Amino acid sequence: MPKPFYLTTPIYYVNDRPHIGHTYTTVLADVIARFHRMRGEQVYFLTGTDEHGQKVEKAAAARGITPKELANEVVANYTELWKRMGMTHFRFIRTTDEDHKAQVQRLFKRLLDKGDIYKSTYKGLYSVSDEAYVTELQAKELQAQGLAHQLVELEEETYFFRLSAYQDRLLKYYEEHPEFVQPEFRFNEVKRFVESGLQDLSISRTSITWGIPVPGDEKHVIYVWFDALLNYLTGCPGDSWPPDLQIVGKDILRFHAVYWPAFLMAAGMFLPTTILAHGWWLMGEDKMSKSRGNVVRPDTLLRFGNDALRFYFMREMQVGHDRGFSFEGFMDRLNADLANGLGNLASRTLSMIHRYRGGVVPLPIAMDPLDRAMAEQLLEVFPEYLEQARANDFHAALEVLWAYLRALDGYIVKAEPWKLAKDPANDPKLDAVLANLYRALRATALLVASVMPELAQTLWASLGHDTQVAETTFHGFALDGPAIGPVGDPKPLFQRIDKEKEMEELMAPEPVAVAKPSLDVPELRETVDADTFFKVDLRVGKILEAERVPKSDKLIRMKVDIGLEQRTIVGGIGKAYEPADLLNRLVVVVANLAPRKLMGIESHGMLLAASDNASKPYLVAPQADAQPGFLVK
Ligand code: MSP
Repeated sequence: MPKPFYLTTPIYYVNDRPHIGHTYTTVLADVIARFHRMRGEQVYFLTGTDEHGQKVEKAAAARGITPKELANEVVANYTELWKRMGMTHFRFIRTTDEDHKAQVQRLFKRLLDKGDIYKSTYKGLYSVSDEAYVTELQAKELQAQGLAHQLVELEEETYFFRLSAYQDRLLKYYEEHPEFVQPEFRFNEVKRFVESGLQDLSISRTSITWGIPVPGDEKHVIYVWFDALLNYLTGCPGDSWPPDLQIVGKDILRFHAVYWPAFLMAAGMFLPTTILAHGWWLMGEDKMSKSRGNVVRPDTLLRFGNDALRFYFMREMQVGHDRGFSFEGFMDRLNADLANGLGNLASRTLSMIHRYRGGVVPLPIAMDPLDRAMAEQLLEVFPEYLEQARANDFHAALEVLWAYLRALDGYIVKAEPWKLAKDPANDPKLDAVLANLYRALRATALLVASVMPELAQTLWASLGHDTQVAETTFHGFALDGPAIGPVGDPKPLFQRIDKEKEMEELMAPEPVAVAKPSLDVPELRETVDADTFFKVDLRVGKILEAERVPKSDKLIRMKVDIGLEQRTIVGGIGKAYEPADLLNRLVVVVANLAPRKLMGIESHGMLLAASDNASKPYLVAPQADAQPGFLVK
């Protein structure tokens, strides 16, 4: 029995909710996990959150809550998103999990006893934003980038990991394991870094409290990266070590390809087989960042469907390289490849099989050279896709497959089945064309199932299968096997996106980036007496759930805790707020407003919001320590 395929993503910091960069990393892992399952392997896929460290401690303090409370809030954004996107990880690990804390302390102690960890003093520069000590060379780089303000002088007692002792062993290991880091040009960067010399690594802090204490010396907490990297060990099921594939972004490759293997060597453990470093999604040429206000959130794109986003990520990004994101490019790709491309081919094929053969897929008895060429091409495309995907290059795999789908379009144009159908003498030729198209679609459903699970299943079912495509394995799949049953009605696989309409909405910047609103101050309303005013029951509420009302760009359906009960409230705030932004917010609710129906949903109450001339809402927020149910008067 081969060992299960063990695959990991980085664990995400809890200082921000997920954007498309984090989503990409996890989608890539999920696609690979599903692909390996269809190769017949047992797969363990681990993801989670990295919750300790100074940044979280500070952010929580600024909001007057505990770091754990802050982490819980952000973690919910991740777990809910992954659930909504159908990610197939077997565990969501948090570095605040008890088994993880114990694991980190155990390993720390072991390396301390062994002499690979020792106590000494660090004196030098420290980067506050990276939470890392900085060498002279790195300091110069930061200065050149104008980031020197993030550096402070520091002298503190600290525990060191004897990284310098592993320099030669690492280089030897790299030499003997050319598959250890992918892609190759990144591996070369890693080698150069190690060749330039390794210093011992400080792995504890006394300036922080939010972390895992050093066992037996509790004024030290363990450095976040030592803590974080070990999640892969804590989360590994018994029979699965070492990881087969660890996916990371290029920015954190050094931690994974240098520190991490050195820790494992010190612990006497096997090293991961491959660390795969992907590039970044950029906005134009720029980095995506909150401070630039150019962050794209998955919510904005998931309106077009989970599969659409997964396909876009896999089709557009060449693993290893950076890629500029654009809304236009996103929509163009989906329209070209899914609405046209595959969608079109599937609906044409299914309708022809219905129209000309009553839904029964014919057997190709006679093939002319063109039919044979198309059939043979499938025999090449199928293994080529599998090979590229096995090398984690879904970009290339999908490119190969879509080139074949385009060739099939040309095949239809040449064969002109609508003309063939007019004369029964052409029956054998028409059979060959229909069978070829059917087989191509069937293979496509199977191949793209790990990238687009839902779309593939719809296609698979409409081709007459009553099984789950995801449970079918590639091995031994008969590309020229007969059809299982009659084909179903052609259902559109992907709804064409109205690009112009969507562009208007998508280009609306996130609320934070909006220019200052102009306001002609409205006139005062008529005077009311206090009794009239106090008839209105205003109270503090907390938003527990929020989701967009389908087919509406404005309405958001929320579940709001108002102390007495939980209410469904539908608010017209969808243009100004993303549902994820609303979670856990305190709001003021008009609680005794008569219920009314909005797009078929009964809304029981209203949220108070200020409004500018353009009617953009600004939610009214009570002070952070108010409780749901408090009366507002
Ligand atoms: N907590 C560390 C990882 C510890 S792993 C033991 C961390 N977290 S992170 O939240 O900042 O980043 C997680 C991953 O998201 C990284 O792999 C990073 O490369 C990826 N991305 C962040 N922004 C990205 C893009 N704009 N594009 C693609 N991926 C990017 O680092």
